[in-house]
Amino acid sequence: MKKMNVGLLGIGTVGGGLYELLKSNITEIQRKASADIRIIAVADKDISRAKEVVGNAIEITDDAFQLVTNPEIDVVIELIGGTTIAKDLVIKAIEHKKHVVTANKALLALFGNELFALAKKNNVILAFEASVAGGIPILKSIKEGLAGNKIEWVAGIINGTTNFILTEMREKGVTFTQALSQAQSLGYAEADPSFDVEGIDAAHKLTILAALSFGIPMSFKDVYVEGIKALEQKDIQYAEELGYRIKLLGIAKKRDKGIELRVHPTLIPEDRLIANVNGAMNAVVVKGNMVGSTLFYGAGAGALPTASAVVADLIDISRATNVPANGFNEKQIEALPIYSINDAISGYYLRIKVSDKPGVLAKITKLFGDKKISIDAMLQKETKENKSEADIVILSRLALEKDINTVIHSIESLSATIGKVIKIRLEELSK
Ligand code: HSE
Repeated sequence: MKKMNVGLLGIGTVGGGLYELLKSNITEIQRKASADIRIIAVADKDISRAKEVVGNAIEITDDAFQLVTNPEIDVVIELIGGTTIAKDLVIKAIEHKKHVVTANKALLALFGNELFALAKKNNVILAFEASVAGGIPILKSIKEGLAGNKIEWVAGIINGTTNFILTEMREKGVTFTQALSQAQSLGYAEADPSFDVEGIDAAHKLTILAALSFGIPMSFKDVYVEGIKALEQKDIQYAEELGYRIKLLGIAKKRDKGIELRVHPTLIPEDRLIANVNGAMNAVVVKGNMVGSTLFYGAGAGALPTASAVVADLIDISRATNVPANGFNEKQIEALPIYSINDAISGYYLRIKVSDKPGVLAKITKLFGDKKISIDAMLQKETKENKSEADIVILSRLALEKDINTVIHSIESLSATIGKVIKIRLEELSK
């Protein structure tokens, strides 16, 4: 059997998991791979940490550029992360005719277009299953398993940290800040968790999902992104009373003239399977025009689940399975327009604080009628803080974002309205 020599860049959590997986499952992997896969070199800034993981049997260097130009190496695995040094190393590896496997979602979302072109030019494979939803084989499922379908939409819980926070807020009644510090103490969130809570990590992953689903270029800069920081406990409770759960969703939807790409907190009917994905788990629903809805569920992060996806890519490369990087023939990539958020179509949850006076509700509902937006459900609650104030919660049917914003603006101009209207989008995820 021919040898496939692998160089590993970065032996932190996932790199350590990869090493462990290869050791434990080597017999199984050898039964499947078409080459004898072995890591022959590791590059890491922390040589002593690398030694603790791999011992003395493997060459360890702190010179990553030397590794990616090493003529003995066939495949480079990039587990450094970020878009600076990791990008330079991936480019250098490809230019030196090495296949590359990466878990780096930011790198793909921001620079995937040029990296795919470079890989094609150098006739090597750039594989990135681990970049979206960790251990869930969602990219291979879209590129291969669902290839016979036109994908209509994809919606996913693709950030484990925020899903953990939202689950804690709902189940334990804690605030966002309390749930975040718990996520940090359990090691789910980073010390600086802004990429997670502001939705940027999910937007990176959504960019990749959309490129593979619709055959469009990576379009990260066009993704509408809203995180979960502003979510209040009372919205989670009101949503629950109305039969909904709030999740941070990445949504990519094909419409007649282009694609909607958005990441934001979303109400989902509680009887949908994805509404019941809790803790740090991930799940992605893909709607194909022939297959219908398919749900993929599993661990979206962590050493061994992510390593599982990396090894799947290594085995593919050993088989020389050159599925096009984003699943579509290169000449078929279409730069479809991405809708502005103002032209997105969604249902809406609005929470309006008002002084409790006769006629207020009638004025509010008239504003919906004027814009031809249908109301689906409504709830009125005396606020805990003040008995002469009430929270009115309205669920709308589908509407254009700019129309609902006009309604909100008019509601905020009413004399009875106190403060800003809270708006959260709502998706039925049914068709
Ligand atoms: N920070 C990410 C998450 C890790 O919470 O899902 C996996 O990409």
